[in-house]
Amino acid sequence: MSNFIGRKEETALLHALLQSPKSEFVAVYGRRRVGKTFLIRTVFENRFDFQLTGQARSNLKQQLLNFQDALQSVDPGEGNKPPKSWFETFGKLRRWVDP
Ligand SMILES: Nc1ncnc2c1ncn2[C@@H]1O[C@H](COP(=O)(O)OP(=O)(O)O)[C@@H](O)[C@H]1O
Ligand SMILES: [Mg+2]
Repeated sequence: MSNFIGRKEETALLHALLQSPKSEFVAVYGRRRVGKTFLIRTVFENRFDFQLTGQARSNLKQQLLNFQDALQSVDPGEGNKPPKSWFETFGKLRRWVDP
C-alpha cells in the first residue's frame, strides 16, 4: 500500500510469522489511532479466514452474538444461535478453521 508509512520492524515481524510452519499468536497493542488495525490489514492484505472486533463497553452476551453473526457471514450454514461461553466460542472457531 503506497500510503503506508514506516512500521518496517513490525511489518518484518508479521511477515516472518506468516511464513512460520506452525501456529502463531500475536498481540498488537497500543493507544487508539496509532495504527494497529491499519498495520494488520495492510500486512495481511485482508486475507483473513475470520475476523472479529471486540465491542467496547459491551457485555458477554452481546460479544457472543457478534461472534455468531461474524461466523454466519463466512459460513452461511451456521445458524444464528450464539455460543454460551468463550470456551464454546473458540471450540466453534477451531472446528470451522480445521474441520
Ligand atoms: N502506517 C501508517 N501509515 C499511514 N497511515 C496510517 C498508518 N497507521 C495508521 N494510519 C492512519 O491512522 C488511522 C488510524 O489507525 P488505526 O489502524 O485505525 O488505529 P488503531 O487500530 O490503532 O486504533 C488509519 O485509518 C490510517 O488512516
Ligand atoms: Mg483498531
